[in-house]
Amino acid sequence: MTSLSFMECLASPQSDCFASPSFWAPLALLAILTAVGFVAWRQEVVVFRRLRRRSLLAAASVLTVSFAAISTIAVVDPEAITTTDTSPFSQTAWAVALTSLGAGVTLLAGALSLALGGRLAKLMSRRAAQSNLRLIIAIDGPAASGKGTLAKRIAQHFSLPCLDTGLLYRAVARDVVDQGQHLNDVAAAVAAAQRLNAATLDDPALRGPAAGDAASIVARIPAVRAALLDYQRRFASQPDGAVLDGRDIGTIVCPDAPIKIYVTATPQERARRRHIEHTQRGETVPYETVLADILQRDARDSSRDIAPMEPAADAARLDTTSLDADAAFREALKIIAAKKA
Ligand code: DC
Repeated sequence: MTSLSFMECLASPQSDCFASPSFWAPLALLAILTAVGFVAWRQEVVVFRRLRRRSLLAAASVLTVSFAAISTIAVVDPEAITTTDTSPFSQTAWAVALTSLGAGVTLLAGALSLALGGRLAKLMSRRAAQSNLRLIIAIDGPAASGKGTLAKRIAQHFSLPCLDTGLLYRAVARDVVDQGQHLNDVAAAVAAAQRLNAATLDDPALRGPAAGDAASIVARIPAVRAALLDYQRRFASQPDGAVLDGRDIGTIVCPDAPIKIYVTATPQERARRRHIEHTQRGETVPYETVLADILQRDARDSSRDIAPMEPAADAARLDTTSLDADAAFREALKIIAAKKA
């Protein structure tokens, strides 16, 4: 069997190349890397994204160094390039420069193949989202169930806009407090809801547990909910669709959403997650206090007269008690695929 090298085949293509394993092996490797990039993007395997970025950086560095070495040799000792009749030092320098050039090209080809796979997966999921006119995904569930993280990942996966509707209630509650009013003051809360500025929703200060508790209080006021409903529905009616997470998305905001997921986890597990978040922020809050807050918030959100937190009749339930974020995401993708089928 002929065994032409990959480089020989590239330099002078001939029919023997197709019978040569050393011609196909690098191509097969690149195809495998493309497939890995594809699967990694679809499964949101973060480590591969980092790997892709790092290998691109490494390839750029190795190529820069080898080009610099080649240029230096070309200037200092051009003989080393054209003849083997040079000093051992020049020969070694030239061999090292060529090897690092080869390594850089290999690394670059690998990184580009990974990136190509990711790009293909992204294109395909965007196509899928577009072919499914207005893919609205409603994600509901109690505090710390993991629905916010899940909603963001799903939105990114399908290239859809995402709205964390809890932020709307949090912003209203903060506005009421900033005005020096009581959270139960209906007129103040409604006025805050009516002047809500969506540009302020990115403020990290809205994300703490105190804001969540305050939000849960203003969220009981029917006129506040009515004032926020229009904004949420307009968000959901974007051309490609949207992902919204909250408490009443599947029941009130988007009752016709084709995909509804109700995310749950035991109160103990949710309290455990919240407790870890507190600890990471350097706050010392006893676990029992966190659990009591969670139970109180659940009770308030699910017992209110208007739009109580509850699964829509046609929602798929996803219990994340024993799932980490990656596993929950994979389960959600299965639910979505089954609903779309
Ligand atoms: O999801 P979150 O923790 O940011 O929500 C804060 C509060 O806002 C929640 O306890 C109840 C209220 N809320 C609501 O009533 N309806 C929604 N769609 C979203 C949040």
